[in-house]
Amino acid sequence: VNFEPTTTDEYERARLVTTRELPVTHDIAMPGYTITISPGIVESAGVLIHAAARTHRYAIIADIAVAARFGGRLLGSFAPGQAQLFTVGSGEAYKTRQSWARLTDEIADAGYGRDTAIVSLGGGVTGDLAGFVAATFMRGIPVAHVPTTLLAMIDASIGGKTGVDTPAGKNMVGAFHPPCAVIVDPLLLISLPAPDRRAGLAEALKHGVIADTVYFERVATLAPKLIAAGAEGMTAMVETVARAIAIKCDVVRRDEREQGLRQVLNFGHTIGHAVELVSNYSIAHGEAVAIGMVIEARIAERLGVAESGTADRITTALAGAGLPTAVPSELAPGAIVSATRSDKKARAGAVRYALPSRIGAMAGERDGWSIAVNDTVVHAALGVRHN
Ligand SMILES: NC(=O)c1ccc[n+]([C@@H]2O[C@H](COP(=O)([O-])OP(=O)(O)OC[C@H]3O[C@@H](n4cnc5c(N)ncnc54)[C@H](O)[C@@H]3O)[C@@H](O)[C@H]2O)c1
Ligand SMILES: [Zn+2]
Repeated sequence: VNFEPTTTDEYERARLVTTRELPVTHDIAMPGYTITISPGIVESAGVLIHAAARTHRYAIIADIAVAARFGGRLLGSFAPGQAQLFTVGSGEAYKTRQSWARLTDEIADAGYGRDTAIVSLGGGVTGDLAGFVAATFMRGIPVAHVPTTLLAMIDASIGGKTGVDTPAGKNMVGAFHPPCAVIVDPLLLISLPAPDRRAGLAEALKHGVIADTVYFERVATLAPKLIAAGAEGMTAMVETVARAIAIKCDVVRRDEREQGLRQVLNFGHTIGHAVELVSNYSIAHGEAVAIGMVIEARIAERLGVAESGTADRITTALAGAGLPTAVPSELAPGAIVSATRSDKKARAGAVRYALPSRIGAMAGERDGWSIAVNDTVVHAALGVRHN
């Protein structure tokens, strides 16, 4: 594994600045595991993961690009000989059954048996894949996540969903397999490219809309700084990450079996998934969700569910974070409406949406936190292109 000296230096610098400004560890207790959030914590990850899952050995499944930057740090946090790196290519194209099979075989061939835990090092792709390897290896061994993208820190590593894509669709094959520990070192974001930071901020703003108006405004204000943040901006990143995680955890904890409340996390995602699909995935998930949040907030206003002005505030915040807020003109509204019907949230004819009542609160508690919306309302919300 090669180190990338500039990244390593920046990480060190960020640690000096951040620990001076904010020497804090946030521990969030989930049923069965703890999420530890602290700048610099990756260097204690091995000790924490060993305390959470006392297995003999640890197989680290790492995104190849991330392994080059931070693999040595994570490996060095385990006792000598206790852990080993297994790499996988970067990006959604590697979240496949083929990667799952290759990794499973490599780990087995290296002599790893039942007394093993898997550790993921990477973004949501690596976490979902490593989680699925862990869920199936010898009928299930523990997995710990060390997320390295903003999206994985605040979203993908929490909640226990794992899986891979197949030609029939994204996340077609998978398992529910909650982690034994999640170790969040926001300083790892020092090398995350701007587009991936924006994608994560879309979800952070979503968490603000769901549950916390103060946080929403704060992220909106900080967004340009968070996108550009080098070592000096990492203190703000730590706060942003910690609160977004707390919000998701609160929702997941209150609805472990996914019977209702978790629906709220789908805000922006019904239209978002449709936009991704119709664009043939040329529009990234975070961008599609940003567009989806605007359209769905407009739907909520049209239905009289949301306070007027909600959609405009969301639009302003997303635009400030450099995210798109309108459906590109080449995507036909009719195609988007049709695509929402193929989404798994379409039950018994009516497509159901998780809708806000204002910034900081969701509507529809009495209807399982989702509201059936007529296609004509969706069409109307899609038709408005200017704000
Ligand atoms: N399990 C869940 O509940 C859940 C929730 C949301 C999303 N997801 C899944 O997450 C995936 C998307 O995750 P993602 O956005 O993290 O994508 P990703 O894992 O592909 O990471 C994005 C890119 O960033 C690079 N990267 C990662 N960390 C880096 C770092 N610290 N510095 C520099 N580069 C870095 C990666 O190499 C990759 O190219 C999707 O497959 C989605 O289905 C899962
Ligand atoms: Zn999402």
